[in-house]
Amino acid sequence: MKKNKVDIIILGGSGLLGKSIIKKFIVKKNKILNLDINNIKKKSKYYFFESFDMTSKDLDINLKKIFKFYSVPKIYIDCSYINRDLLIDIDFNKITKTKLNRVLNDWLSSSIVISSYILTKMKKSKIESSVILTSSIYGVVAQDPNVYKNTNIKENIGYTLVKSGINNFVKNAATIYGPYNIRVNSISPGGIKNKYDKNFNNKIFKKNYLKKVPLKRFANADEIANIYEFIGSNNSSYITGFNLIADGGFTLT
Ligand SMILES: NC(=O)c1ccc[n+]([C@@H]2O[C@H](COP(=O)([O-])OP(=O)(O)OC[C@H]3O[C@@H](n4cnc5c(N)ncnc54)[C@H](O)[C@@H]3O)[C@@H](O)[C@H]2O)c1
Repeated sequence: MKKNKVDIIILGGSGLLGKSIIKKFIVKKNKILNLDINNIKKKSKYYFFESFDMTSKDLDINLKKIFKFYSVPKIYIDCSYINRDLLIDIDFNKITKTKLNRVLNDWLSSSIVISSYILTKMKKSKIESSVILTSSIYGVVAQDPNVYKNTNIKENIGYTLVKSGINNFVKNAATIYGPYNIRVNSISPGGIKNKYDKNFNNKIFKKNYLKKVPLKRFANADEIANIYEFIGSNNSSYITGFNLIADGGFTLT
């Protein structure tokens, strides 16, 4: 059976960041396969979609199915964000093993298993490739309680563990796959402007957060998507094992 040839596979491409990334690659006529639980309206011969649940217990079987129908991509991007309800109540007052395990299992472990699966495929295909995972400023620095002052928003230890785990995985994977010309990096955006997100529409949170940002604004999804394009391209051919922080300076102080 003839496989669909794709240049890029993206996990979680139907979200805020994913949509911008897909747009960037499609404009340049790259074929991109979006694996997500939700599809987006996109009529383009360069766009492919497969319904895919990263939390499924049949992850290996589902990945095998995908590669029965699609070629190994040159670029793999993970910009997934699991159901935010699973992250509720994992602050320092309320950590329970069940909740924490669920987040680590559904998000961190799944991201690592999927990336590792694709990395082995890339290695076999012997083409120069780039894997890009999405981390966060909170994979790098602690969540500052001042940002949440006078709001009902809490720190989230589950999120920080997932993101720091991603950063560490990237370093290890880059070491293992470097000799095969496969680069593995992560991108850590600061807050991205989003009219639907409760936090970003909380005036006090916004004020507290922006106090820490020298550029005095949130990011636009488009300017973060540019970085995925850069790390995916040959312009970053000597960068691997790196976590590129794009936060308007939030983590500087
Ligand atoms: N938005 C921000 O301000 C911000 C800041 C820093 C880091 N990030 C990181 O960027 C990434 C993308 O964030 P976003 O704001 O675009 O999130 P989003 O919620 O808009 O998009 C996430 C995507 O993941 C998909 N998804 C959810 N559960 C899934 C599952 N079980 N299987 C497959 N797909 C699933 C969703 O359908 C959605 O399309 C996340 O890793 C997030 O931590 C975001």
